[in-house]
Amino acid sequence: MRTITKTKLSYLINIPIIKDEGYLCFMEESNHIPFKIKRVYYIFDTIGGAVRGMHAHKKTRQLIFCLQGSVDLILDDGVKREKVILNKANKGLFLDRMIWHEMINFRDSAILLVVASDFFKESDYIRKYELFVKAKNK
Ligand code: TYD
Repeated sequence: MRTITKTKLSYLINIPIIKDEGYLCFMEESNHIPFKIKRVYYIFDTIGGAVRGMHAHKKTRQLIFCLQGSVDLILDDGVKREKVILNKANKGLFLDRMIWHEMINFRDSAILLVVASDFFKESDYIRKYELFVKAKNK
């Protein structure tokens, strides 16, 4: 079972968190993740003032967790923009295909864990905002 929290342009998927002598979170394909996992990557030791993302994916869908610290995620569908603060290890932001995203304000040694629906392919990226808006309006 997965519980979700809606945001304007997406939603957060709440995965189980088990507390004993610390915390343990887990996620399972189908049960918590709305796609087949083909890739996992993580982002850490980000330098101050860094801006990551600044692109959209044509097909790839992703689930982004902030395991430590916090980060601001800007989402944009070509019309609306919203800021989502990621700061909970058990709440992952579902990033659908064709959502422009920017990651800013990495705080407190933020560590991001991302699960993705596809292998890395540069051809899946749209890295120019104007081209993204054009593609959205097609
Ligand atoms: P990019 O997706 O642009 O990072 P971010 O959105 O966090 O700014 O990727 C940065 C670089 O890493 C780029 O050269 C592509 C490479 N990369 C891979 O080779 N495989 C991957 O799975 C990812 C996510 C990136």
